[in-house]
Amino acid sequence: MPSRNPTIKFTKLFINNEFVNAVSGKTFPTINPTNGKKIIDISEADKPDVDRAVCAAREAFKLGSTWRTMDASARGSLMNKFASLIERDLEYLASLETLDNGKPYTDSLFDIKCAIDVFRYYAGWCDKIHGHTIPVDGNFMTMTRKEPIGVVGAIIPWNYPILMMSWKLGPALATGCTMLLKPAEQTPLTALYLAALIKEAGFPPGVVNVLPGYGPTAGAAIASHCDINKVAFTGSTEVGKLIATAAGNSNLKRVSLELGGKSPLVIFDDCDLDEAVEIAHNAIFANHGQNCCAGSRTFVQEGIYDRFVKKAKDMAMARRVGDPFEEGTTQGPQIDETQFKKILDLIESGKREGAKLECGGSPAAEVGYFIKPTVFSNVSDKMRIAREEIFGPVQQIIKFRTLEEVIARANDTQYGLAAGIVTNNLDRALTFAQSVQAGSMWVNCYDIVIPQAPFGGFKRSGYGRELGEDSLKEYLEVKTITIKVPQKNS
Ligand code: NAI
Ligand code: MG
Repeated sequence: MPSRNPTIKFTKLFINNEFVNAVSGKTFPTINPTNGKKIIDISEADKPDVDRAVCAAREAFKLGSTWRTMDASARGSLMNKFASLIERDLEYLASLETLDNGKPYTDSLFDIKCAIDVFRYYAGWCDKIHGHTIPVDGNFMTMTRKEPIGVVGAIIPWNYPILMMSWKLGPALATGCTMLLKPAEQTPLTALYLAALIKEAGFPPGVVNVLPGYGPTAGAAIASHCDINKVAFTGSTEVGKLIATAAGNSNLKRVSLELGGKSPLVIFDDCDLDEAVEIAHNAIFANHGQNCCAGSRTFVQEGIYDRFVKKAKDMAMARRVGDPFEEGTTQGPQIDETQFKKILDLIESGKREGAKLECGGSPAAEVGYFIKPTVFSNVSDKMRIAREEIFGPVQQIIKFRTLEEVIARANDTQYGLAAGIVTNNLDRALTFAQSVQAGSMWVNCYDIVIPQAPFGGFKRSGYGRELGEDSLKEYLEVKTITIKVPQKNS
């Protein structure tokens, strides 16, 4: 059962399996987005705390440590135990996530179940990460070893707090790394609770450290730290560039970046119209539009354009916006005032630049960061709403004629995270899937993100892959060991 007032047990930094105050003693408030009021004060990490956590993670990573000498299968058992503890506390965690983030309780439940799947998927990988033996020239035997990269710094956003944590922790723990994780300043609560479950599951001290704090202080200290081996980041392209720069200017730590998008979803006139409208609706309105792979450019073929717009508008207006703890609510508030204002500003730009506002376009309540589900038609490619990531419940419906034309327009963006096509024509679907530059391509579906399949961006949507087997290599170094043998093997 959801609880509107879940007891908040942990508000301090988690370093070396202990909850501790920040070195500075500072705290910051985490805000409830449904009313803009403070929920509670949280210890605020900064550079000295990052240094402490790096020392703990480094110690845990030392050769001969409990973590390094543990059987890989035992590491998998710990991860499975951790997943089971999350499952035990599912309803409490979902309440905490909804309180801090504002997403509907049922969405929180769904996210956490996905995170559990991610942990279990990676638990299975622990004892299956191995190298090759290679038939090299000469009297040598060569083999490769896949070794954990070392201390990982993870910096995550607020849109899927627990899920993003699982995308980083899963592969980092499976490969045997140690880590410090900075949750977004907007959503520190569930990350701290998961830290307590890490300890309860029995992970050795220092393997996982959780440091709530702000980006330009704690986040920047992680990105430029000379004793961190890799940073895994999810967030804006702007901050992604800062992180890549800081990595280059410090110790050339490895970096993986999962950044924003302006993903096209293309609907052809041979589709089942109702089904297509629903796919496109969910593609943009899921998680209040706060989704890196949101289908935020809905391209619709001219023959069905007017009918599509009408149905899309009806569907948007039927969304239930309000209290995220109430059953039946499909949309809560946006995460904070900054995002709320950014979205409203982009909506105003759409109106000014000549797009037709079909519905919404304004706040949905007097208090809190609620925005009415908004649909624009007559959107053209040059408008800001067709180019910039809005990260809000705002659908842009754009008209097109031919496959060739829509491929060019789909690719006319700095981003390349995802794309989708709805059609019953297989040739068309395949041509589109091969021609559009995006890391995820969905045919007759959208936003299908599963633990077994890699996810990540082309172009300025970032580099590296998360999930699936591909993610593991982001956390591994390959060591080549060559041994002289008396004579060449026959
Ligand atoms: P952001 O990129 O500023 O924040 C993401 C994370 O980076 C947070 O943990 C933040 O504390 C940290 N951070 C911020 N500045 C940093 C710095 N200088 N060094 C190291 N870490 C830093 O994103 P923000 O401000 O929350 O949202 C801005 C826009 O970014 C959104 O409107 C949206 O367009 C995009 N975004 C994309 C996300 C995605 O899933 N790809 C998630 C969140 C935001
Ligand atoms: Mg920011």
